[in-house]
Amino acid sequence: DGPYAADIERVVVSAADIQEKIAELARKVEADYQADTDSPLLLVGVLKGAFVFMADFARELRHPAEVEFMAVSSYGSSTTSSGVVRILKDLDRDIAGRHVLVVEDIIDSGLTLSWLLRNLASRNPASVRVVALLRKPDAVKVPVEVAHVGFDIPNEFVVGYGLDYDERYRGLPFVGVLKPEVYGAA
Ligand code: PRP
Ligand code: MN
Ligand code: MG
Repeated sequence: DGPYAADIERVVVSAADIQEKIAELARKVEADYQADTDSPLLLVGVLKGAFVFMADFARELRHPAEVEFMAVSSYGSSTTSSGVVRILKDLDRDIAGRHVLVVEDIIDSGLTLSWLLRNLASRNPASVRVVALLRKPDAVKVPVEVAHVGFDIPNEFVVGYGLDYDERYRGLPFVGVLKPEVYGAA
């Protein structure tokens, strides 16, 4: 599990459970778009956190798909909820008339996704839906319509499987909680 696994206090979602869930999610998404097997789905990953989920989900999905990424950044600290988001990297192509599926690692406050969904909807896609691996209880405060969620998890800070603390731990194959002393050392 690499050099960072020792910093984990507790595993919240195991690597095996994640992989099993991704297969389930892929089957659900395939069913959603089964009437459209001629047109490739446009998977839009939200950098950086979604890169691991995207890699596994895109390889599991048995529906033609193209992969795109957007990078966005919230203004201000993570504790304030201005809802203002800045695009650091936009899509490389027009999505008009396309079926778009946003692939996100986690929905916390929901601010990132609610902004992104409005932004994408303004580009006249055929549809925009969301698949998220993880969701926290606070997500209900900013309502985001999510087609499929992998796991609802408790409201604690988690890392791994794309999720970082200070840019570390993204490569862990599971989702877990850090030992308290790790925060003190940062
Ligand atoms: C994290 C996570 C989601 C977002 C969820 O990204 O990957 O994209 O926060 O939070 P929200 O629902 O409160 O908006 P972050 O901004 O940390 O960037 P990163 O993906 O590059 O780590
Ligand atoms: Mn993110
Ligand atoms: Mg982050």
